[in-house]
Amino acid sequence: MIFRGLAALLSAGALSFAAPAVAQEAPAAAGATSIILHANQSGPTISRDIFGQFAEHLGAGVYGGIWVGAESPIPNVRGIRSDVVGALRALRVPNVRWPGGCFADEYHWRDGIGPMARRPVRLNPNWGGVTESDHFGTHEFFDFVDQIGSEAYLSANVATGSPREAAEWLEYMTAAQPTTLALERRANGHPAPFNVHLLGLGNESWGCGGSMTPEHYVEEMKNYARVARNYNPAQTGDRSMRRIAVGPDGAHTEFTEAVMQAWQNKVWSWNIEGISLHYYTVGGWPPHYASDHFGAQDYAALVADTLNLDRLIATHSAIMDRHDPQHQVGLYVDEWGVWLAPLPGTNPAFLAQQNSMRDAVIAALNLNIFARHADRVRGANIAQMVNVLQAMILTDGPRMVLTPTYHVFHMYVPFQNARFIPVQLDGGSYVQGAVTLPRLDAIAARATDGTLWLAVTNVDPDRASSIEIGGDGLPLRSATGQTLTAPSVDSHNSFDAPDIVRPQQISVAAVNGRLRVALPAKSVTVLRLEPAAAP
Ligand code: AHR
Repeated sequence: MIFRGLAALLSAGALSFAAPAVAQEAPAAAGATSIILHANQSGPTISRDIFGQFAEHLGAGVYGGIWVGAESPIPNVRGIRSDVVGALRALRVPNVRWPGGCFADEYHWRDGIGPMARRPVRLNPNWGGVTESDHFGTHEFFDFVDQIGSEAYLSANVATGSPREAAEWLEYMTAAQPTTLALERRANGHPAPFNVHLLGLGNESWGCGGSMTPEHYVEEMKNYARVARNYNPAQTGDRSMRRIAVGPDGAHTEFTEAVMQAWQNKVWSWNIEGISLHYYTVGGWPPHYASDHFGAQDYAALVADTLNLDRLIATHSAIMDRHDPQHQVGLYVDEWGVWLAPLPGTNPAFLAQQNSMRDAVIAALNLNIFARHADRVRGANIAQMVNVLQAMILTDGPRMVLTPTYHVFHMYVPFQNARFIPVQLDGGSYVQGAVTLPRLDAIAARATDGTLWLAVTNVDPDRASSIEIGGDGLPLRSATGQTLTAPSVDSHNSFDAPDIVRPQQISVAAVNGRLRVALPAKSVTVLRLEPAAAP
Protein backbone atom coordinates (compact mmCIF):
# COMPACT_ATOMS: atom_id res chain seq x y z
CA MET A 1 0.00 0.00 0.00
CA ILE A 2 1.44 3.32 -1.02
CA PHE A 3 0.82 6.35 1.09
CA ARG A 4 -0.18 9.30 -1.05
CA GLY A 5 2.12 11.71 0.71
CA LEU A 6 1.80 14.74 2.91
CA ALA A 7 -1.03 16.25 0.87
CA ALA A 8 -3.28 13.31 1.75
CA LEU A 9 -2.43 13.59 5.41
CA LEU A 10 -3.10 17.29 5.46
CA SER A 11 -6.31 17.07 3.48
CA ALA A 12 -7.72 14.56 5.93
CA GLY A 13 -6.58 16.15 9.14
CA ALA A 14 -4.44 19.20 9.60
CA LEU A 15 -6.24 21.43 7.12
CA SER A 16 -9.44 21.11 9.11
CA PHE A 17 -7.84 23.84 11.24
CA ALA A 18 -6.90 26.04 8.29
CA ALA A 19 -3.60 27.68 9.08
CA PRO A 20 -2.39 31.05 7.81
CA ALA A 21 0.10 31.00 4.94
CA VAL A 22 3.63 30.19 5.95
CA ALA A 23 4.82 33.15 3.88
CA GLN A 24 3.88 35.43 6.78
CA GLU A 25 6.59 33.84 8.88
CA ALA A 26 10.29 34.48 8.77
CA PRO A 27 11.97 31.71 6.76
CA ALA A 28 13.68 28.94 8.71
CA ALA A 29 17.45 28.95 8.89
CA ALA A 30 19.18 27.20 6.00
CA GLY A 31 18.76 23.43 6.15
CA ALA A 32 16.04 23.50 8.80
CA THR A 33 12.35 22.65 8.41
CA SER A 34 10.09 25.36 9.74
CA ILE A 35 7.35 24.30 12.18
CA ILE A 36 4.81 27.00 12.95
CA LEU A 37 2.45 26.63 15.89
CA HIS A 38 -0.84 28.47 15.55
CA ALA A 39 -1.24 28.75 19.29
CA ASN A 40 -4.08 31.26 19.04
CA GLN A 41 -6.27 28.83 17.02
CA SER A 42 -6.97 26.20 19.61
CA GLY A 43 -8.97 23.21 18.41
CA PRO A 44 -10.87 20.47 20.21
CA THR A 45 -9.80 18.70 23.39
CA ILE A 46 -7.69 15.61 22.78
CA SER A 47 -9.64 13.20 24.99
CA ARG A 48 -7.38 11.35 27.37
CA ASP A 49 -9.38 8.25 26.47
CA ILE A 50 -7.41 8.01 23.20
CA PHE A 51 -4.53 6.73 25.34
CA GLY A 52 -6.63 3.73 26.44
CA GLN A 53 -5.33 0.18 26.46
CA PHE A 54 -6.71 -3.31 25.92
CA ALA A 55 -6.18 -6.41 28.08
CA GLU A 56 -7.75 -9.58 26.72
CA HIS A 57 -7.68 -13.12 28.08
CA LEU A 58 -5.23 -14.11 25.37
CA GLY A 59 -1.80 -15.74 25.70
CA ALA A 60 0.10 -14.10 28.56
CA GLY A 61 -1.89 -10.86 28.29
CA VAL A 62 -3.66 -11.39 31.62
CA TYR A 63 -2.36 -14.65 33.14
CA GLY A 64 1.36 -14.15 33.73
CA GLY A 65 1.41 -10.57 32.46
CA ILE A 66 -0.98 -9.02 34.99
CA TRP A 67 -2.31 -11.79 37.21
CA VAL A 68 0.12 -14.13 38.96
CA GLY A 69 -2.06 -15.11 41.92
CA ALA A 70 -1.61 -14.21 45.55
CA GLU A 71 0.59 -17.26 46.21
CA SER A 72 3.11 -16.37 43.50
CA PRO A 73 6.76 -15.67 44.44
CA ILE A 74 6.49 -12.72 42.01
CA PRO A 75 5.76 -9.65 44.16
CA ASN A 76 2.05 -8.91 43.90
CA VAL A 77 -0.86 -7.23 45.61
CA ARG A 78 -3.85 -9.55 45.84
CA GLY A 79 -2.48 -11.54 42.88
CA ILE A 80 -1.72 -8.59 40.59
CA ARG A 81 1.98 -8.21 39.83
CA SER A 82 3.47 -5.08 41.36
CA ASP A 83 6.20 -4.39 38.77
CA VAL A 84 3.61 -4.17 35.97
CA VAL A 85 1.31 -2.01 38.10
CA GLY A 86 4.19 0.37 38.90
CA ALA A 87 5.10 0.76 35.23
CA LEU A 88 1.51 1.27 34.10
CA ARG A 89 0.75 3.86 36.78
CA ALA A 90 3.34 6.13 35.18
CA LEU A 91 1.38 6.07 31.89
CA ARG A 92 -1.78 7.45 33.52
CA VAL A 93 -3.78 4.92 31.51
CA PRO A 94 -7.27 6.45 31.18
CA ASN A 95 -9.16 3.19 30.61
CA VAL A 96 -8.57 -0.52 30.12
CA ARG A 97 -10.78 -2.53 27.77
CA TRP A 98 -11.54 -6.02 29.10
CA PRO A 99 -12.16 -9.01 28.87
CA GLY A 100 -11.86 -8.98 25.06
CA GLY A 101 -11.85 -8.97 22.05
CA CYS A 102 -13.19 -12.20 20.72
CA PHE A 103 -12.92 -13.64 24.24
CA ALA A 104 -15.62 -11.25 25.48
CA ASP A 105 -18.34 -12.69 23.27
CA GLU A 106 -17.87 -16.12 24.87
CA TYR A 107 -17.37 -14.82 28.41
CA HIS A 108 -19.99 -15.22 31.11
CA TRP A 109 -19.36 -12.91 34.03
CA ARG A 110 -20.73 -15.28 36.67
CA ASP A 111 -17.81 -17.62 35.95
CA GLY A 112 -15.44 -14.98 37.32
CA ILE A 113 -16.95 -14.07 40.71
CA GLY A 114 -16.95 -15.72 44.13
CA PRO A 115 -14.40 -17.99 45.80
CA MET A 116 -11.59 -19.07 43.44
CA ALA A 117 -12.07 -22.74 44.28
CA ARG A 118 -15.65 -22.59 43.00
CA ARG A 119 -14.91 -20.86 39.74
CA PRO A 120 -15.33 -23.12 36.72
CA VAL A 121 -12.40 -24.00 34.49
CA ARG A 122 -13.38 -23.35 30.89
CA LEU A 123 -11.63 -23.38 27.54
CA ASN A 124 -10.46 -20.36 25.57
CA PRO A 125 -11.24 -21.60 22.04
CA ASN A 126 -10.42 -18.29 20.37
CA TRP A 127 -6.85 -18.23 21.62
CA GLY A 128 -5.25 -21.64 21.46
CA GLY A 129 -7.90 -23.72 23.23
CA VAL A 130 -6.03 -23.39 26.53
CA THR A 131 -7.79 -23.66 29.86
CA GLU A 132 -9.26 -20.53 31.43
CA SER A 133 -9.16 -20.65 35.24
CA ASP A 134 -11.52 -17.67 35.65
CA HIS A 135 -9.29 -16.51 38.51
CA PHE A 136 -9.13 -13.04 36.96
CA GLY A 137 -12.76 -11.95 37.00
CA THR A 138 -14.78 -8.81 37.63
CA HIS A 139 -13.41 -8.00 41.11
CA GLU A 140 -9.81 -8.72 40.12
CA PHE A 141 -10.18 -6.51 37.03
CA PHE A 142 -11.50 -3.58 39.06
CA ASP A 143 -8.73 -4.12 41.60
CA PHE A 144 -6.24 -3.94 38.72
CA VAL A 145 -7.66 -0.71 37.24
CA ASP A 146 -7.72 0.80 40.75
CA GLN A 147 -4.12 -0.18 41.35
CA ILE A 148 -2.94 1.46 38.10
CA GLY A 149 -5.22 4.50 38.59
CA SER A 150 -7.37 3.81 35.54
CA GLU A 151 -11.01 3.17 34.66
CA ALA A 152 -12.99 0.25 33.29
CA TYR A 153 -14.05 -0.29 29.70
CA LEU A 154 -16.06 -3.53 29.75
CA SER A 155 -17.21 -5.50 26.71
CA ALA A 156 -20.64 -7.05 27.06
CA ASN A 157 -21.24 -10.47 25.50
CA VAL A 158 -23.66 -10.02 22.61
CA ALA A 159 -22.84 -13.16 20.60
CA THR A 160 -23.42 -15.90 23.21
CA GLY A 161 -24.86 -13.88 26.09
CA SER A 162 -28.21 -12.17 26.42
CA PRO A 163 -29.51 -8.70 27.23
CA ARG A 164 -30.58 -10.13 30.61
CA GLU A 165 -27.06 -11.41 31.36
CA ALA A 166 -25.58 -7.99 30.50
CA ALA A 167 -28.25 -6.16 32.53
CA GLU A 168 -27.56 -8.34 35.57
CA TRP A 169 -23.79 -7.83 35.25
CA LEU A 170 -24.34 -4.06 35.25
CA GLU A 171 -26.70 -4.29 38.23
CA TYR A 172 -24.22 -6.50 40.09
CA MET A 173 -21.44 -3.97 39.49
CA THR A 174 -23.25 -0.67 39.91
CA ALA A 175 -26.36 -0.93 42.08
CA ALA A 176 -26.15 0.95 45.39
CA GLN A 177 -29.50 -0.26 46.75
CA PRO A 178 -29.56 -3.62 48.59
CA THR A 179 -30.74 -5.72 45.65
CA THR A 180 -29.89 -9.40 45.67
CA LEU A 181 -27.15 -8.79 43.10
CA ALA A 182 -25.69 -5.82 44.97
CA LEU A 183 -25.66 -7.88 48.19
CA GLU A 184 -23.86 -10.63 46.32
CA ARG A 185 -21.21 -8.09 45.25
CA ARG A 186 -20.91 -6.99 48.87
CA ALA A 187 -20.53 -10.61 50.01
CA ASN A 188 -17.77 -10.97 47.43
CA GLY A 189 -15.86 -8.12 49.06
CA HIS A 190 -16.98 -4.89 47.38
CA PRO A 191 -19.82 -3.05 49.12
CA ALA A 192 -19.47 0.14 47.07
CA PRO A 193 -20.66 0.18 43.45
CA PHE A 194 -17.97 -0.15 40.80
CA ASN A 195 -17.44 2.64 38.32
CA VAL A 196 -18.01 1.50 34.71
CA HIS A 197 -16.67 4.27 32.49
CA LEU A 198 -17.31 2.66 29.10
CA LEU A 199 -19.44 -0.30 28.02
CA GLY A 200 -18.93 -2.02 24.66
CA LEU A 201 -22.12 -3.49 23.22
CA GLY A 202 -20.43 -6.52 21.68
CA ASN A 203 -17.11 -6.90 19.92
CA GLU A 204 -16.60 -7.31 16.18
CA SER A 205 -20.17 -8.51 15.72
CA TRP A 206 -19.38 -8.61 12.00
CA GLY A 207 -16.71 -11.27 12.75
CA CYS A 208 -15.85 -13.35 15.82
CA GLY A 209 -18.66 -11.65 17.74
CA GLY A 210 -21.49 -13.42 15.89
CA SER A 211 -20.89 -12.85 12.15
CA MET A 212 -24.01 -10.71 12.11
CA THR A 213 -25.36 -8.60 9.31
CA PRO A 214 -25.44 -4.90 10.18
CA GLU A 215 -29.26 -5.05 10.36
CA HIS A 216 -29.25 -8.01 12.74
CA TYR A 217 -26.64 -6.35 14.94
CA VAL A 218 -28.60 -3.11 15.14
CA GLU A 219 -31.69 -4.98 16.39
CA GLU A 220 -29.62 -6.76 19.07
CA MET A 221 -27.69 -3.64 20.02
CA LYS A 222 -30.78 -1.50 20.66
CA ASN A 223 -31.94 -3.99 23.29
CA TYR A 224 -28.56 -4.07 25.05
CA ALA A 225 -28.34 -0.27 24.92
CA ARG A 226 -31.70 -0.13 26.69
CA VAL A 227 -31.28 -2.68 29.45
CA ALA A 228 -27.57 -2.62 30.34
CA ARG A 229 -28.12 0.22 32.80
CA ASN A 230 -25.57 1.81 35.08
CA TYR A 231 -27.09 2.40 38.55
CA ASN A 232 -24.02 3.88 40.20
CA PRO A 233 -25.29 7.11 41.83
CA ALA A 234 -21.85 8.68 41.39
CA GLN A 235 -22.00 8.24 37.62
CA THR A 236 -24.06 11.20 36.51
CA GLY A 237 -23.34 14.11 34.18
CA ASP A 238 -19.80 14.01 32.80
CA ARG A 239 -19.15 10.79 34.67
CA SER A 240 -22.04 8.91 33.05
CA MET A 241 -21.20 5.57 31.46
CA ARG A 242 -20.81 5.72 27.69
CA ARG A 243 -22.17 2.88 25.56
CA ILE A 244 -20.07 1.98 22.51
CA ALA A 245 -21.78 0.08 19.71
CA VAL A 246 -19.85 -2.11 17.29
CA GLY A 247 -18.88 -0.06 14.28
CA PRO A 248 -16.68 -0.58 11.25
CA ASP A 249 -14.08 -3.18 10.44
CA GLY A 250 -11.32 -1.14 8.81
CA ALA A 251 -12.50 0.28 5.50
CA HIS A 252 -15.88 -1.47 5.51
CA THR A 253 -18.60 1.11 5.99
CA GLU A 254 -21.76 -1.04 6.34
CA PHE A 255 -21.78 -1.06 10.14
CA THR A 256 -21.04 2.66 10.30
CA GLU A 257 -24.01 3.38 8.03
CA ALA A 258 -26.41 0.99 9.75
CA VAL A 259 -25.60 1.95 13.33
CA MET A 260 -25.55 5.69 12.64
CA GLN A 261 -28.78 5.49 10.61
CA ALA A 262 -30.45 3.66 13.51
CA TRP A 263 -29.09 6.26 15.93
CA GLN A 264 -30.42 9.11 13.82
CA ASN A 265 -33.89 7.53 13.84
CA LYS A 266 -33.76 6.32 17.43
CA VAL A 267 -36.69 6.57 19.78
CA TRP A 268 -36.58 7.60 23.45
CA SER A 269 -35.95 4.10 24.75
CA TRP A 270 -32.31 3.67 23.79
CA ASN A 271 -29.13 5.57 23.02
CA ILE A 272 -25.42 5.11 22.45
CA GLU A 273 -22.54 7.52 22.95
CA GLY A 274 -20.01 5.96 20.58
CA ILE A 275 -19.24 3.46 17.84
CA SER A 276 -16.04 1.49 17.57
CA LEU A 277 -13.53 1.13 14.73
CA HIS A 278 -10.91 -1.61 14.59
CA TYR A 279 -7.82 -1.13 12.48
CA TYR A 280 -4.59 -3.07 12.68
CA THR A 281 -1.32 -2.12 11.02
CA VAL A 282 -0.69 -5.51 9.48
CA GLY A 283 0.38 -5.06 5.85
CA GLY A 284 -2.02 -7.80 4.64
CA TRP A 285 -3.61 -10.78 6.37
CA PRO A 286 -2.43 -13.13 7.74
CA PRO A 287 0.11 -11.14 9.73
CA HIS A 288 3.49 -11.90 8.18
CA TYR A 289 5.83 -8.96 8.84
CA ALA A 290 8.60 -9.88 11.27
CA SER A 291 8.78 -8.08 14.61
CA ASP A 292 12.56 -8.52 14.76
CA HIS A 293 15.40 -8.59 12.20
CA PHE A 294 13.77 -6.54 9.44
CA GLY A 295 14.98 -3.77 7.18
CA ALA A 296 13.95 -0.44 5.67
CA GLN A 297 11.50 -1.92 3.18
CA ASP A 298 9.38 -3.63 5.84
CA TYR A 299 9.65 -0.51 7.95
CA ALA A 300 8.31 1.75 5.20
CA ALA A 301 5.53 -0.66 4.22
CA LEU A 302 4.12 -0.78 7.74
CA VAL A 303 4.45 2.97 8.36
CA ALA A 304 2.50 3.49 5.11
CA ASP A 305 -0.13 1.01 6.27
CA THR A 306 -0.54 2.83 9.57
CA LEU A 307 -1.00 6.20 7.87
CA ASN A 308 -4.00 4.75 6.01
CA LEU A 309 -5.88 5.04 9.29
CA ASP A 310 -6.08 8.78 8.77
CA ARG A 311 -8.09 8.29 5.57
CA LEU A 312 -10.27 5.61 7.19
CA ILE A 313 -11.19 7.85 10.08
CA ALA A 314 -12.02 10.61 7.62
CA THR A 315 -14.27 8.22 5.67
CA HIS A 316 -16.17 7.00 8.75
CA SER A 317 -16.34 10.53 10.18
CA ALA A 318 -17.95 11.75 6.96
CA ILE A 319 -20.68 9.10 7.30
CA MET A 320 -21.15 10.01 10.96
CA ASP A 321 -21.35 13.70 10.06
CA ARG A 322 -24.31 12.99 7.77
CA HIS A 323 -26.27 11.31 10.58
CA ASP A 324 -24.87 13.27 13.50
CA PRO A 325 -23.74 16.75 12.45
CA GLN A 326 -23.61 17.81 16.13
CA HIS A 327 -20.94 15.18 16.87
CA GLN A 328 -22.91 13.62 19.73
CA VAL A 329 -21.63 10.12 18.96
CA GLY A 330 -17.90 9.56 19.32
CA LEU A 331 -15.67 7.29 17.26
CA TYR A 332 -13.68 4.89 19.47
CA VAL A 333 -10.75 3.18 17.76
CA ASP A 334 -10.83 0.55 20.44
CA GLU A 335 -8.42 -1.86 18.77
CA TRP A 336 -5.37 -0.56 16.95
CA GLY A 337 -1.70 -1.37 16.73
CA VAL A 338 0.89 -3.37 14.82
CA TRP A 339 -0.03 -7.02 14.31
CA LEU A 340 3.09 -8.97 13.27
CA ALA A 341 4.11 -12.59 12.66
CA PRO A 342 4.23 -14.61 15.88
CA LEU A 343 7.68 -14.84 17.46
CA PRO A 344 9.35 -18.11 16.41
CA GLY A 345 9.01 -20.75 19.09
CA THR A 346 5.86 -19.26 20.61
CA ASN A 347 2.29 -20.53 20.38
CA PRO A 348 0.95 -18.63 17.31
CA ALA A 349 -2.42 -18.26 19.05
CA PHE A 350 -0.78 -16.21 21.81
CA LEU A 351 0.06 -13.31 19.46
CA ALA A 352 3.49 -12.76 21.02
CA GLN A 353 5.72 -10.35 19.11
CA GLN A 354 8.78 -8.19 19.71
CA ASN A 355 8.37 -4.42 19.95
CA SER A 356 10.88 -2.24 18.11
CA MET A 357 11.76 1.35 17.34
CA ARG A 358 9.51 0.96 14.29
CA ASP A 359 6.58 0.30 16.61
CA ALA A 360 7.42 3.42 18.60
CA VAL A 361 7.31 5.53 15.41
CA ILE A 362 4.03 3.88 14.44
CA ALA A 363 2.54 4.50 17.91
CA ALA A 364 3.39 8.20 17.68
CA LEU A 365 1.94 8.51 14.17
CA ASN A 366 -1.31 6.86 15.29
CA LEU A 367 -1.63 9.08 18.35
CA ASN A 368 -1.07 12.09 16.07
CA ILE A 369 -3.83 10.89 13.76
CA PHE A 370 -6.26 10.51 16.69
CA ALA A 371 -5.35 13.99 17.94
CA ARG A 372 -6.00 15.53 14.50
CA HIS A 373 -9.43 13.91 14.52
CA ALA A 374 -10.17 14.86 18.12
CA ASP A 375 -13.45 16.45 17.07
CA ARG A 376 -14.81 12.92 16.42
CA VAL A 377 -12.33 10.44 17.92
CA ARG A 378 -13.11 10.30 21.65
CA GLY A 379 -11.28 7.13 22.53
CA ALA A 380 -8.76 4.54 21.34
CA ASN A 381 -7.29 1.35 22.81
CA ILE A 382 -3.96 0.00 21.71
CA ALA A 383 -3.88 -3.78 21.28
CA GLN A 384 -2.73 -4.82 23.71
CA MET A 385 -1.35 -3.90 27.11
CA VAL A 386 1.04 -6.68 28.19
CA ASN A 387 2.72 -9.50 26.19
CA VAL A 388 0.22 -9.46 23.29
CA LEU A 389 0.62 -7.67 19.93
CA GLN A 390 1.98 -4.08 20.28
CA ALA A 391 2.44 -4.27 24.04
CA MET A 392 3.65 -1.68 26.53
CA ILE A 393 5.33 -4.34 28.62
CA LEU A 394 6.79 -7.80 28.07
CA THR A 395 7.20 -10.26 30.92
CA ASP A 396 8.94 -13.59 31.30
CA GLY A 397 8.30 -15.18 34.68
CA PRO A 398 9.52 -12.62 37.23
CA ARG A 399 11.23 -10.44 34.62
CA MET A 400 9.69 -7.40 32.97
CA VAL A 401 10.86 -5.05 30.22
CA LEU A 402 9.37 -1.79 28.95
CA THR A 403 8.98 -1.57 25.18
CA PRO A 404 9.68 1.39 22.87
CA THR A 405 5.89 1.80 22.57
CA TYR A 406 5.69 2.20 26.35
CA HIS A 407 8.11 5.11 26.15
CA VAL A 408 6.01 6.88 23.50
CA PHE A 409 2.89 6.59 25.66
CA HIS A 410 4.86 7.96 28.59
CA MET A 411 6.20 10.89 26.58
CA TYR A 412 2.68 11.71 25.34
CA VAL A 413 1.09 11.95 28.81
CA PRO A 414 0.94 15.80 28.65
CA PHE A 415 -1.37 15.51 25.62
CA GLN A 416 -4.10 13.89 27.73
CA ASN A 417 -7.11 16.25 27.68
CA ALA A 418 -4.94 18.99 26.10
CA ARG A 419 -6.38 21.42 23.53
CA PHE A 420 -5.25 20.70 19.99
CA ILE A 421 -3.19 23.45 18.32
CA PRO A 422 -2.71 23.38 14.54
CA VAL A 423 0.88 23.16 13.33
CA GLN A 424 2.22 23.83 9.88
CA LEU A 425 5.22 22.04 8.47
CA ASP A 426 6.49 20.42 5.33
CA GLY A 427 9.48 18.23 6.02
CA GLY A 428 9.57 16.74 2.52
CA SER A 429 9.38 13.04 1.77
CA TYR A 430 11.14 9.84 2.64
CA VAL A 431 11.11 7.46 -0.32
CA GLN A 432 11.73 3.74 0.03
CA GLY A 433 11.15 1.77 -3.19
CA ALA A 434 7.52 2.36 -4.21
CA VAL A 435 6.59 3.90 -0.86
CA THR A 436 6.66 7.66 -0.27
CA LEU A 437 6.12 8.90 3.27
CA PRO A 438 6.07 12.34 4.86
CA ARG A 439 9.48 12.65 6.49
CA LEU A 440 8.20 14.57 9.51
CA ASP A 441 4.93 14.52 11.40
CA ALA A 442 3.95 16.75 14.32
CA ILE A 443 1.12 17.70 16.66
CA ALA A 444 0.94 20.47 19.24
CA ALA A 445 -1.41 21.12 22.14
CA ARG A 446 -1.99 23.28 25.17
CA ALA A 447 -2.11 21.12 28.30
CA THR A 448 -4.70 21.48 31.03
CA ASP A 449 -2.17 23.50 33.09
CA GLY A 450 -1.65 25.95 30.20
CA THR A 451 1.75 24.65 29.08
CA LEU A 452 2.51 24.23 25.37
CA TRP A 453 3.62 20.88 23.99
CA LEU A 454 4.95 19.74 20.62
CA ALA A 455 5.51 16.14 19.46
CA VAL A 456 7.58 15.58 16.31
CA THR A 457 8.35 12.26 14.65
CA ASN A 458 11.19 11.90 12.17
CA VAL A 459 10.04 8.97 10.05
CA ASP A 460 13.25 8.83 7.99
CA PRO A 461 15.29 5.87 9.23
CA ASP A 462 18.56 7.21 7.78
CA ARG A 463 18.60 11.02 7.86
CA ALA A 464 18.52 13.32 10.86
CA SER A 465 16.50 16.51 10.48
CA SER A 466 16.76 19.95 11.87
CA ILE A 467 13.60 21.86 12.73
CA GLU A 468 13.05 25.47 13.60
CA ILE A 469 10.02 25.99 15.83
CA GLY A 470 8.17 29.28 15.96
CA GLY A 471 4.72 30.41 17.02
CA ASP A 472 2.67 33.01 15.18
CA GLY A 473 2.79 36.02 17.46
CA LEU A 474 4.35 33.84 20.15
CA PRO A 475 8.12 34.19 20.59
CA LEU A 476 9.63 31.20 22.36
CA ARG A 477 12.32 31.18 25.01
CA SER A 478 13.33 27.55 25.45
CA ALA A 479 12.19 23.96 25.34
CA THR A 480 12.83 20.86 27.38
CA GLY A 481 11.77 17.35 26.63
CA GLN A 482 12.74 13.89 25.51
CA THR A 483 13.83 12.16 22.33
CA LEU A 484 13.40 8.47 21.69
CA THR A 485 15.63 6.91 19.05
CA ALA A 486 17.66 3.74 18.50
CA PRO A 487 20.56 2.36 16.49
CA SER A 488 18.20 0.84 13.88
CA VAL A 489 14.50 0.55 13.14
CA ASP A 490 14.42 -3.00 14.46
CA SER A 491 16.23 -2.18 17.71
CA HIS A 492 14.31 -3.38 20.73
CA ASN A 493 14.68 -3.78 24.48
CA SER A 494 15.22 -7.19 25.98
CA PHE A 495 15.27 -8.60 29.49
CA ASP A 496 19.08 -8.61 29.35
CA ALA A 497 19.43 -5.22 27.61
CA PRO A 498 16.36 -3.22 28.70
CA ASP A 499 17.67 0.26 27.79
CA ILE A 500 18.60 -0.04 24.11
CA VAL A 501 15.59 2.11 23.23
CA ARG A 502 14.91 4.66 25.91
CA PRO A 503 14.26 8.41 25.88
CA GLN A 504 17.05 10.94 26.33
CA GLN A 505 16.51 14.36 27.90
CA ILE A 506 17.02 17.41 25.70
CA SER A 507 16.86 21.14 26.27
CA VAL A 508 17.18 23.99 23.80
CA ALA A 509 17.43 27.77 24.13
CA ALA A 510 15.74 29.99 21.54
CA VAL A 511 17.43 32.46 19.23
CA ASN A 512 15.25 35.42 18.23
CA GLY A 513 12.15 33.69 19.57
CA ARG A 514 12.70 30.49 17.60
CA LEU A 515 13.98 27.11 18.65
CA ARG A 516 16.35 25.04 16.56
CA VAL A 517 16.09 21.34 17.41
CA ALA A 518 17.97 18.40 15.92
CA LEU A 519 15.82 15.34 15.31
CA PRO A 520 17.77 12.10 15.03
CA ALA A 521 16.80 9.68 12.26
CA LYS A 522 13.85 7.40 13.28
CA SER A 523 12.96 9.36 16.36
CA VAL A 524 10.03 10.61 18.41
CA THR A 525 10.57 13.90 20.27
CA VAL A 526 8.20 15.55 22.75
CA LEU A 527 8.98 19.11 23.88
CA ARG A 528 7.52 21.46 26.44
CA LEU A 529 7.79 24.93 24.90
CA GLU A 530 8.39 27.96 27.10
CA PRO A 531 7.13 31.22 25.61
CA ALA A 532 9.37 34.25 25.98
CA ALA A 533 8.28 36.53 28.80
CA ALA A 534 5.95 39.32 27.65
CA PRO A 535 7.93 42.55 27.04
O1 AHR B 1 -6.63 -8.19 19.58
C1 AHR B 1 -6.78 -9.49 19.10
C2 AHR B 1 -8.13 -9.73 18.45
O2 AHR B 1 -8.25 -8.93 17.31
C3 AHR B 1 -9.35 -9.38 19.26
O3 AHR B 1 -9.72 -10.40 20.13
C4 AHR B 1 -10.40 -9.20 18.21
O4 AHR B 1 -11.42 -8.31 18.61
C5 AHR B 1 -9.62 -8.70 17.01
O5 AHR B 1 -9.95 -9.37 15.87
